[in-house]
Amino acid sequence: MSENNPRKIILDCDPGHDDALAIMLATASPELELLGLTTVAGNSLVENTTRNALIVLDMVNRADIPVHVGAVKPLLRELRTAASMHGDGGLDGPVPAAPSRPADDGSVLEFIEKTLTDAAEPITLVATGPLTNIAAVVTELPHLHHKIAELVFMGGAIELGNWTPAAEFNILVDPEAADIVMNSPIKKTMIGLEVTHEAWLDDSHANELRGTGQCGDFVAELLDHFVGFHQQRFEWPGAPIHDAVTIAHLIDPSLVTTIFTNVTVETQSELTLGRTVVDVYSVTDKSPNVHVGTHINRDQFVTLLMSRLASHS
Ligand code: RIB
Ligand code: CA
Repeated sequence: MSENNPRKIILDCDPGHDDALAIMLATASPELELLGLTTVAGNSLVENTTRNALIVLDMVNRADIPVHVGAVKPLLRELRTAASMHGDGGLDGPVPAAPSRPADDGSVLEFIEKTLTDAAEPITLVATGPLTNIAAVVTELPHLHHKIAELVFMGGAIELGNWTPAAEFNILVDPEAADIVMNSPIKKTMIGLEVTHEAWLDDSHANELRGTGQCGDFVAELLDHFVGFHQQRFEWPGAPIHDAVTIAHLIDPSLVTTIFTNVTVETQSELTLGRTVVDVYSVTDKSPNVHVGTHINRDQFVTLLMSRLASHS
């Protein structure tokens, strides 16, 4: 893909501070064409993640990009949110204006089915929240699997979780959906915590953007909240911008190193619910099904993200 032939993507998200930066990175990158956002309950209620998605698109002057409202809860389980991290509204910190428009009519499934059907070339799906919507797509649209170039999703971990000792938040919220997606035949790339925990920004990055314009101030205020939370809760130097790594990976595939191996999801155990079991050493006879991120070039990621964020006025 290149600027002359941008990769067409649909981003399924639950904004969320890092989702917001993923949207801003995607809309600042000529290598990508963001065909639409679909929203899911996760970091906050879906009405909040939808409002936040609309606000972020207004912020980058892209109210032309459609936003379709998705799942209000996981497939089987009750919703758990990350209000402790992102705030009750899902985007604590900045106090932006209300969205300039409502979400678009039509379901996520209708939007994705029409978009895939009409596409001349396969489209890339990106997911940065629980995989509830994506599970519906791969289940209900088997006749369109060939029109999905790949799914790049932020979720899971090879080792430690971040919401329980065993599980990363996106997978934990809807483990049944994640299990369906892992067992689907589409190409999948997992951007998990081993990669995203290296992809952090700190106060210096917030201050670099502050005062550079409306978008710069918006990002600085997002980071003030998100960095402050991680410094206080985990005593880390900064906040991992988890979701932006999915977009950065599509812009520059050299950033993230991956291995192709088997990933299965724990859906039964109370203790380890939502764990992604990654067969790094191929010790099982299970076939490889996911390209799993193992390392990231942190400096290159930060340079890319900061330069693209700074390009928004
Ligand atoms: O575990 C990190 C993930 O959970 C990110 O997508 C963040 O936005 C939250 O949804
Ligand atoms: Ca997210």
